[in-house]
Amino acid sequence: MAVTKIVRGQIVHITGSEGWCRVDLETLWRVKTFAIAQIASPMNDLRVAVILAIESSCDETAVAILRGKPDQRAELLSSVVASQIQEHRVYGGVVPEIASRSHSLNLNGLVEKSLEIAAIRMADIDAFGATMGPGLASSLLVGSTAAKAMSCISGKPFIAVNHLEGHLLSPFIEKTAVPHHTGLIVSGGHTQLMEVSSPGKYRKLGSTRDDAAGEAFDKVGKMLGLPYPGGPEIEIAARNGNPNAYDFPRSMMQGGELDFSFSGLKTAVLYTLQKDPNAKTEDIAASFQAAVVDVLVEKTIRASKFSNTRIIGLSGGVSLNRYVRQAFMDRCKKEGFQLEIANPDLCTDNAAMIAFAALLRFLSGKIDPLDGDINPNLSL
Ligand code: KG4
Ligand code: ZN
Repeated sequence: MAVTKIVRGQIVHITGSEGWCRVDLETLWRVKTFAIAQIASPMNDLRVAVILAIESSCDETAVAILRGKPDQRAELLSSVVASQIQEHRVYGGVVPEIASRSHSLNLNGLVEKSLEIAAIRMADIDAFGATMGPGLASSLLVGSTAAKAMSCISGKPFIAVNHLEGHLLSPFIEKTAVPHHTGLIVSGGHTQLMEVSSPGKYRKLGSTRDDAAGEAFDKVGKMLGLPYPGGPEIEIAARNGNPNAYDFPRSMMQGGELDFSFSGLKTAVLYTLQKDPNAKTEDIAASFQAAVVDVLVEKTIRASKFSNTRIIGLSGGVSLNRYVRQAFMDRCKKEGFQLEIANPDLCTDNAAMIAFAALLRFLSGKIDPLDGDINPNLSL
């Protein structure tokens, strides 16, 4: 693992593999040059905190600026994302080397753009946040190193953020408080049910034992010959399909089980396609989507009853799916739960959610050391 040691204004030591050093140095140099030019005014009045955060855990490079006060609604000043989907599409999935290289190339422009949209200067930022995991090591390293560089050059604190915490809290960005609730994170890398007592106080209620829901969407999309990522493509195909055409398995629906499993469902789709290569793509997509959604909704309601919470938070890339959103809305209405879904712009990876998690951490008096390492397998 590469280790970056930096002291105020100067990179003094970097160890690690050749490839990583190259990305680190390049990113540090660009950000350093830019940041020095921007720093001119004294620190803000810290009764209001302005956070600049970077997200680079996978294939989206994102920067956001968020302003907030304790116990008040935060204000998202800017949120910019450079998607790499087109770059990876030709390979049918994310290529780590391409991802980290693109992060490095995109980051400086995105930092500039986020400041421009927020209409503030680098000097107005009170703390810098970045995703430290989970995710691709070489991608995490680029964003976190850039945020650390800005932090050490400006002398402002650095805040390490767990990507999953970002998703989990994302339904409550720009709301007055994060209530006691049950949160479902449903993304390409994770499917996880959490009880959230308050920011920072979490209890895991269930998670997937094999594929994440988004991963299953992407793999089934591939089987159907749809472009990467399969999730949005399956949603589109399913609009013209019959959700009852195939009775795909709903795993672990019996008893009080709160964990998920999607590999059996994926295999069932594969067998169906092997048996009937002319099966209608739209029908497979609609039936697969219905099976995933039934499980997600049922387990989330079950988990909410188990944790005795009346509010449900829904986040992560798959929560962008309109069929998923509608199914949760219908069931929550029927059972009297309050549903909070992340804004569609903030379902897939973004830096606003990282800035929000960083803001809450900062306002509670916590900051993080500059020599803390990324963790590709970080859990919540
Ligand atoms: O949260 P996210 O951007 O990244 C991770 O943290 O994993 O989620 C990406 C996942 C991908 O698997 C993608 O296919 C899925 O979210 N996704 C969708 C939709 N939009 C994105 N899945 C189903 N329907 C969608 N409309
Ligand atoms: Zn994510």
